[in-house]
Amino acid sequence: MRAFAPRNALFSILFFLLLLLISGAVLAASDGLEGGNPLQTYVVLVEKPEDLVFTTEEERKNWHESFLSRATAEGVAAKSRMVYSYGDVISGFAARLASAELEAIQAMDGFVAAFPDRVLPLLTTHSPGFLGLSLSNGQWSNSRSGEGVVIGMLDTGATPNHPSFSGTGMPPPPAKWKGSCEMNKAYCNNKLIGYKVFNLGAELAGARTSRRRVVDTDGHGTHTASTAAGAPVDGVSVLGYANGTAVGVAPRAHLAIYEVCSDEGCTYTDIMAGISAAVEDGADVLSISLGGSSIPFYEDGLAVATFRAMDKGLVVSCAAGNSGPFPRSLSNEAPWMLTVAASTIDRSLRTAVRLGDGQELEGESIFQPTGATMTDLPLVYPRKSGFSFCEEKALSHFDVKGKVVICDRGGYSGRRTKAKNVHEAGGAGMILANLGLDGYSTVVDVYPIPTANLGFSDGSKAKAYVKSSTNPTVSLVVKGTVIGTSPAPVITSFSSRGPSLLSPGILKPDVTGPGVDIVAAWPFDVDSDAVGGGASPHFNVLSGTSMSTPHLSGVAALVRSAHPDWSPAAVKSAIITTAEVLDREGKPIMNEKLQPASLFAMGAGHVNPAGAEDPGLVYDIQPDDYIAYLCRLRYTDANVTAIVGRRIRCSDRKEAMKADLNYPSISVSLHRGINSIAVRRTVTNVGEASSGYTVKVEQPAGVGVTVSPETLQFSQVGEKVSFTVRFSKDGASARGFAEGHLVWVSEKHMVRSPISVSIA
Ligand SMILES: *[C@@H]1O[C@H](CO)[C@@H](O)[C@H](O)[C@H]1NC(C)=O
Ligand SMILES: *[C@@H]1O[C@H](CO)[C@@H](O)[C@H](O)[C@H]1NC(C)=O
Repeated sequence: MRAFAPRNALFSILFFLLLLLISGAVLAASDGLEGGNPLQTYVVLVEKPEDLVFTTEEERKNWHESFLSRATAEGVAAKSRMVYSYGDVISGFAARLASAELEAIQAMDGFVAAFPDRVLPLLTTHSPGFLGLSLSNGQWSNSRSGEGVVIGMLDTGATPNHPSFSGTGMPPPPAKWKGSCEMNKAYCNNKLIGYKVFNLGAELAGARTSRRRVVDTDGHGTHTASTAAGAPVDGVSVLGYANGTAVGVAPRAHLAIYEVCSDEGCTYTDIMAGISAAVEDGADVLSISLGGSSIPFYEDGLAVATFRAMDKGLVVSCAAGNSGPFPRSLSNEAPWMLTVAASTIDRSLRTAVRLGDGQELEGESIFQPTGATMTDLPLVYPRKSGFSFCEEKALSHFDVKGKVVICDRGGYSGRRTKAKNVHEAGGAGMILANLGLDGYSTVVDVYPIPTANLGFSDGSKAKAYVKSSTNPTVSLVVKGTVIGTSPAPVITSFSSRGPSLLSPGILKPDVTGPGVDIVAAWPFDVDSDAVGGGASPHFNVLSGTSMSTPHLSGVAALVRSAHPDWSPAAVKSAIITTAEVLDREGKPIMNEKLQPASLFAMGAGHVNPAGAEDPGLVYDIQPDDYIAYLCRLRYTDANVTAIVGRRIRCSDRKEAMKADLNYPSISVSLHRGINSIAVRRTVTNVGEASSGYTVKVEQPAGVGVTVSPETLQFSQVGEKVSFTVRFSKDGASARGFAEGHLVWVSEKHMVRSPISVSIA
């Protein structure tokens, strides 16, 4: 089935990426030729010789340009090849180069590393719609609500005049803030305190179709920014059906917008320019809802730039990707990132699918009755064999006029394309039937025709009914919004899964947050053709790890606001060790098949904002600690230097390399002849000065776990205590991954670390 029913998000992204890369190459070839070689955009990282002192940015830029003038036949004129001259945070530049020119630069003093530019997709599955329920509720934010914290959004921009970005009642930006609204000062207020655009890389890659100087032509960035820190907006409604207040997770935090993506994706060169600016401006948290398939960190502009940001104290929240449920499908796996999976919330929009034989199936949709009566319509499953992905050509072989058409979810066309195809072929409605891959995970979209999404088993029932009936009919009946549904949260099918390909020693994803049917601000009335709306302010419902990521960015802002002196690793640790492993009914969190979700689906579990502000203990990591970790990945000195931005010799770090990275989760392998392994961790007391913790182990199957010592005593805040955890095969060990937890329990706190043991 996998071969016939590829995960549509994955395939459309890969396909899309391919198209962009092809068009980028064609563009480069016609754009400039050097000795017959096409020019390509590269990121070139350099290291300033100690005797070189820059007093102005201009001098630094001249030095960067000197690499180009020396490497090319054009001499001084080669300046025009410069795309970005990056400041201290990145130390390097982006330029268009022929391969021989790159080789010449590689031989020059000061050269560190280079890698080609790449286009990354945004991690949402579009679902234009309009739904108004409050985004979050009182339990999410307590005392400070993110006050004093700046969240930098690396995205498609934002809609400055949207009420979600109102500065009313907001305090002025913190004193350290150096950013601004470069395009138009009027965009800035005390909520939205910065807006900068970086799109030179996108233009060179052909990834920017619209040259209109309109802010956020896509909507993705407006949605994610308002999710993270949007101001409260009352009276948001679902096409007149529901109503409520929309508000971001950290409503008192400030937003700084770095427009580094267009609706066609985002390039490393633009992202690196945006991250560099965010660090220099004084942002505290970066929210990054984009990413591609994993490539080594030293060639991944996003991993490189976020390391530099973390090194300067910023917390970095990144989307895990929408390529699930396949294993090893993660984006953004670097250990300095918070890698965010996506799960449902306890709300569903129900539409009953009544089959002619009396069966009633539970569908999910936000279809609006535009006067159409969806009663007793003919039902068709248009396929000759295999599946029905409702491609335009396939539909042309069937008479679907006036009928409700069953389309299988998956294949090469997205949900909206299927609905559009059915609509254009004269169909009256669509039933989107999940295949086994998507299981029970349904999503809401606004389509041009009434639609209902059925889970796998209900979808199969509808198809069986069509097959067995001579005159199949169906009625779609809107049941409306249901709040308090169970089970919730559930990891959704599209959320990318671990284990981490690039760094199996780190358990990824880290955590999950709400990413299905999320309502947030939108630049325009996307449904006007579907529903004839026009109400302002505009909101939209979207799904993706793009949507869960800004929830976690908001939570990071809450934690940072409560504890301004905590390191990025401490903030991450607080979020990870307080995550919930049980759902709202106290049962294990489920996956799309309604089976208990593995650690590779949910990470540490579902984010618990109140807990994260008061974790008791944290597992801290200093930026230098990642260096030994990178050396152990067998990266070359140049590779590690490229990531961390300081000249590194791994051979100088033999001692440090013995230490384990003090990550708040544990991932170990018991492979070939290794029957036992020990890891060391250090916790820092951030709770009550005098406190005692006792260990509780939820044992991975077939693995013996001993912890030493088994109790930890603290007498002051900030005190550090180390312990060792030994894992041993216990005879009953089966090949595969065993899972468990290590929990430090005090009177007030439970500090929980997930454990993943790979056994072979
Ligand atoms: C929604 O609007 C209706 C009618 O205006 C009102 O009776 C109801 O209380 C509102 N519900 C909420 C949750 O605000
Ligand atoms: C990483 O190391 C490999 C092997 O030495 C080298 O070919 C590559 O250029 C390096 N890349 C970077 C970005 O450092």
